[in-house]
Amino acid sequence: MSPEPEFPYDFIGKILITPEEIEKRVAFIGNQIHNDFKDSKKLLLLGLLRGSVMFVTDLMRKVQIPLTMDFMSVSSYSGSETSGFIRIDSDHKTNISGWDVILIDDIVDTGYTINTVKKLLLDRNPKSLKICALLDKRERHKVDVPIDYLGFEIPDVFVVGYGLDIDEKGRNLPYIASVDPKKYENSKHK
Ligand code: IMP
Ligand code: MG
Repeated sequence: MSPEPEFPYDFIGKILITPEEIEKRVAFIGNQIHNDFKDSKKLLLLGLLRGSVMFVTDLMRKVQIPLTMDFMSVSSYSGSETSGFIRIDSDHKTNISGWDVILIDDIVDTGYTINTVKKLLLDRNPKSLKICALLDKRERHKVDVPIDYLGFEIPDVFVVGYGLDIDEKGRNLPYIASVDPKKYENSKHK
C-alpha cells in the first residue's frame, strides 16, 4: 500500500501559515473589531465571495456583538490588472445606508478589487467603511489600499488554502500554502 500523500493536492510548495497561527490571528482581529464596534447599532460584515468565506465565518464568531453578515461576488474584467474594472456578479442584499460596514476579502494583491469595491460601496452611503483582509502582498500593490484589519503580510508568491484557490482548487486546506508553479503545471497534464 502506498503511504498517504503529505498534501491532498500535488501542487503544494510549502505551508506558510499554520492553522494555529491563523486561529490566533483571526481571534486577535475579531477582538479588535469587537472593541471598535461595541457601540454600533448596525454592524455589517461584508465578505467577497468566494475566497473570504472561511475567514468571515471564523471571524464573526470572535465578534460577540450584534451584527449582520452579507456577501457580494465580483470578478475582474480581463485586462483589469491595468484598468481596475470589475463586474458585479452578485450584489449584497443589505441596504448599507447608515451601516458600519467592514469589507472583507481573502487577499489584497494589486489592490484593484478592494479599491474598486470600496469606491462603489462609499456611493451607497454607509455610516463608516473599513477594510479587512486576511493576507496582503504589499509589494504587489498598484494602488494605495489602506487596510484597517490585516491578518498577515506575505511575499509575492501564489498561495492557496483557508478559502483561497488556484483555479477553484485548494480552498479546503486548513492552512495557507504556497503553490509550486512547476508541480502545478505538471498536475494540469495528469
Ligand atoms: P487584486 O485586485 O489584484 O488585489 O486581486 C485580489 C484577488 O486576486 C483576490 O481576491 C484573489 O481572488 C486573487 N488572488 C491574488 N493573489 C492570490 C493568491 O496568491 N492566491 C489566490 N488568489 C489570489
Ligand atoms: Mg478573491
